[in-house]
Amino acid sequence: MTTFFSYPDPKLQKELRETAEAIVAPGKGILAVDEVNEGIGKLLAAIGLDNTENNRRRYRQLLFTTETLSEHVSAVILFDETVYQKTDDGTPFVELLKKNNIIPGIKVDKDAVPLFLSQDEVTTQGLDDLAKRCAEYKKQGCRFAKWRCPLKIGENTPSVQAINDTAQVLARYASICQSEGLVPIVEPDVVLDGDHDIVRNQQVTEAALAAVYKALSDHHVFLEGTLLKPNMITPGQASSKKNTPEEIAVATVSSLRRTVPAAVPGIAFLSGGQSEEEATVNLNAINQVTLKKPWALTFSYGRALQASVWKTWAGKDENTKAAQLELLKRTKANDLASQGKYQGGAKTSAAVKSNFSANHKY
Ligand code: 13P
Repeated sequence: MTTFFSYPDPKLQKELRETAEAIVAPGKGILAVDEVNEGIGKLLAAIGLDNTENNRRRYRQLLFTTETLSEHVSAVILFDETVYQKTDDGTPFVELLKKNNIIPGIKVDKDAVPLFLSQDEVTTQGLDDLAKRCAEYKKQGCRFAKWRCPLKIGENTPSVQAINDTAQVLARYASICQSEGLVPIVEPDVVLDGDHDIVRNQQVTEAALAAVYKALSDHHVFLEGTLLKPNMITPGQASSKKNTPEEIAVATVSSLRRTVPAAVPGIAFLSGGQSEEEATVNLNAINQVTLKKPWALTFSYGRALQASVWKTWAGKDENTKAAQLELLKRTKANDLASQGKYQGGAKTSAAVKSNFSANHKY
């Protein structure tokens, strides 16, 4: 056991803590738009557009120029290319976001590759040059980072090998981010694929989170300057058993209470393939659970904030305003849900459509 180590200097602690707390301020959450070019390419193709740098920029410009977005969104997660892009009038996206009181962050994990001899499990790459990349993103104005490690539930998975690998990789990533002044969002994602029931998901998620927090402790990660981005605890997408939002909420909050230290300021869920409305209703139920919850519980959604935006925009400039209104409806609904005050009724064009796709890549 290591007992000799230093804490980050007080100035760095303050900076990390303040950023993490600002991201999970009451009623605020994260808009995740860090799809890699291949991932956004599929969305562009679905509306008949080519996967060009300009089309990717046009779509993200629509999101970032949405007026009053910062009433519900504290932060956005960007993809590398987006950090360097500008609006039509030449304003860098990062500057625009900062001016609008939205904190820019960056996805820093790279490709997932097979874990040799495992049953289709993966490890996530990108640690080797991470400190250098973090320093560059910090210089560009980013204040936090995200790294996702997927874990898949099967008859014999996730394996001990995959859980330990996830924990070590996330801990090393978090430590490197903090060394460069970025708040790490730690994302162990027990994916929705599979026919398991809610109990199995709860067992797996608890085991994974317990391993992750042990590793973060071993790596002396300053927890007050981190955020967690977990899956909600639901049955698998192909399960014949369905659960109510209340059951999902109790399983999710119980697992988090057993594994996530109170020093972590906030937990911002991924949507993972749930429909927009499901993700909102479940977040609302999570915040209504009467168990004691020491952290803010909010959203960091990609698909569940953007499905209706894509549908309404359809690649046409004349639909921009209508698409922005869809984004505002969904972010407002999740703002309310993060406070347990959502009463339903956020009618958006793709609200109840499942966003699940097998082996989804971001
Ligand atoms: P989804 O909400 O689409 O699962 O995206 C989460 C994510 O990790 C993107 O940053």
